Amino acid sequence: MKRRRLPLSLRRRAVPWEGQRPTWRDARPALIAAALKRAQARPSGNWYVVGASRALRGDGKLARTVAGQEVVVWRGPDGRLVGGPGICPHLGAPLRDSPVRCGTLVCHWHGLALDGRPYAGWSPLPVHDDGVLVWARLDAVGGEEPLDAPVVPRRPEPARALTAVYTGTGVCEPEDVVANRLDPWHGAWFHPYSFVDLTVVDAPGAAGAAEDGPDALTVDVSFKVAGRLVVPVRAVFTAPEPRTVVMHITEGEGAGSVVETHATPLGVDRAGRPRTAVVEAVIAASDRPGFAVARGAAPLLRPLVRAAAGRLWRDDLAYAERRWDLRSTGRFPG
Ligand code: FES
Ligand SMILES: [Fe+2]
Repeated sequence: MKRRRLPLSLRRRAVPWEGQRPTWRDARPALIAAALKRAQARPSGNWYVVGASRALRGDGKLARTVAGQEVVVWRGPDGRLVGGPGICPHLGAPLRDSPVRCGTLVCHWHGLALDGRPYAGWSPLPVHDDGVLVWARLDAVGGEEPLDAPVVPRRPEPARALTAVYTGTGVCEPEDVVANRLDPWHGAWFHPYSFVDLTVVDAPGAAGAAEDGPDALTVDVSFKVAGRLVVPVRAVFTAPEPRTVVMHITEGEGAGSVVETHATPLGVDRAGRPRTAVVEAVIAASDRPGFAVARGAAPLLRPLVRAAAGRLWRDDLAYAERRWDLRSTGRFPG
């Protein structure tokens, strides 16, 4: 597919949903399972995505339970990212509800003040801000060899990108979220409101699949705009670490844009079922002159991008939850 000068195409005729080519023969369960297994074998260095960097402006704070561990992250008095356990070392107040004042997290029960350094039995955790997402390293949870920094995917230059972060949660494990993303074949069938004309042009194990790494899944797909108006793109899916799947738009409108899906295990609910957060970062890039204007309108566009992701993720979380439900009761096919 050559890079098109016009981003929009008019589909010649509308194919009814049931008239599109079935993809189930190509979406081989063994192929998806093998891709998942290879992703899980890659190092994460025990880093987990906590949330969006944007939340940490000013006296902002991020709090999340990661694999049963309450974690709180904020900017210390010198602006440096700091973080650690979200349980007050005094009598256990939930620090997620404590305010940050000039870089100091002040416990709202009795005023114990934390500036990010070890204090009164509280010890910091390694934290990392990659400019879009905030990560925390939990060595006791991950059990891997720790890495100094998380495995952050290749991204477009921030100056020419528009960023939006969507967060959702589901009853499933991170692998169910990753498995959903490693099945691009469901795109036009399961999300007909967003995608049409989806073809997987390259999958791991197929001849010539090495261009974007041996594990890249390459997909030609059109995003629906309205009616028969679509934006055709080529997208390449990779899993750089066990809880991340990245989609790079390599050709078509927005080439260079990235959608990163990160799955963070939260812990189990009262019924003992696992809960997982999906943190999806859309880092949209474009060389189009008009895009500078779009970036200026970022505060307006952000909720739109998020809503689009939200609709997709309602369905994709249903897929992941279904997968976990079947797996955990021994009913998963195969
Ligand atoms: S519980 Fe935090 S200061 Fe007492
Ligand atoms: Fe999907």
